[in-house]
Amino acid sequence: MYEAMTRSAQGLIDLRSDTVTRPTAGMREAMASAQVGDDVYGDDPTVRALEERVADLLGKEDAVFVASGTQSNLTALLSHCGRGDEYIGGVGYHIPTYEAAGAAVLGGISPRHLKPDESGALDPDDIAATVAPDDPHFAITKLLCLENTFNGKVVPQAKLEAAAQVARANGLSVHVDGARLMNAVIASNAKADAMVAFADSVSLCLSKGLGAPVGSVLSGSRDFIRRAYRSRKLLGGGMRQAGVLAACGLYALDHHVDRLAEDHIKARTLAQRLAAIDGIEIDESAVQTNMIWLTVSSPRRMGLADHLRKDGIVAPSPDPRTGQMRMVVHLDISREDIDIVVQSFSNWLDS
Ligand SMILES: Cc1ncc(COP(=O)(O)O)c(C=O)c1O
Repeated sequence: MYEAMTRSAQGLIDLRSDTVTRPTAGMREAMASAQVGDDVYGDDPTVRALEERVADLLGKEDAVFVASGTQSNLTALLSHCGRGDEYIGGVGYHIPTYEAAGAAVLGGISPRHLKPDESGALDPDDIAATVAPDDPHFAITKLLCLENTFNGKVVPQAKLEAAAQVARANGLSVHVDGARLMNAVIASNAKADAMVAFADSVSLCLSKGLGAPVGSVLSGSRDFIRRAYRSRKLLGGGMRQAGVLAACGLYALDHHVDRLAEDHIKARTLAQRLAAIDGIEIDESAVQTNMIWLTVSSPRRMGLADHLRKDGIVAPSPDPRTGQMRMVVHLDISREDIDIVVQSFSNWLDS
């Protein structure tokens, strides 16, 4: 069982991201009793247990524990590609958009951006057409990066597999940014290993919906993970008695995976109830996991975030041009919180 912290422990209903969750009492106990060692020497049994657990969960040979999703993706890119290589990613995917161009800055690896379709998938023909010919004018295309979930949507498995197949036929490796892969697993009632069987490497975040304070795990073949240990070290990511953090990850995998279904129900409920308010538009079919994208068409939208804040709700301001805003449901959001949020929106937009 998981124990959600009550709203009063924090005093705020924070809908900015699922990264804002705080470790539960049970998770803190797991930290306190974790066996630890120096992980750079390979001596931390709890880190090793987490790495083996995730490798097994995702059907890969091995895994490495890293500090963040960004470090996990960058470690993967540095391990798949060298200087002068390029990778293909999607416009709006996290790696090419929100990771400070780390692959280019630190790895000399350049990005190619393809526009994903509505579901978040890349077109196999676009991928094939983007792979550079073997010609010294061009970078060497080495890697395809996919993302699941994308903007809270579960990318259709057949489309992921079709993209991976074309990549492989063109000699590319395939990496999946599965920061919220377990949300996709729970939403589609699938097995995690089957969902990423086509991938050479997978990054899984523990500090998003799973509720750990820190950490991601990068998995792949034994040989790939051996290279990834080196890349992680190069990035300054070798951690010492990291078992206290890995214990949170193990705790999250034991206690916080099945409960993601509750977040998905709460997100759908919130979306349905907000959609009934005049001045809010929501594509409810896009609310497949824990994220809600809404458009606030009301002219009152510019004061909305301040108004919500007065009611103890933290949410981003709607985009001034489009009115779009994102809200994310997680384990620190209760059903009662959903009522408060709906009431607060309604008070502002209906007044
Ligand atoms: C899809 C995706 N990948 C990677 C990351 C990076 O994770 P971190 O914030 O732990 O670096 C995020 C962060 O929100 C994300 O949404």
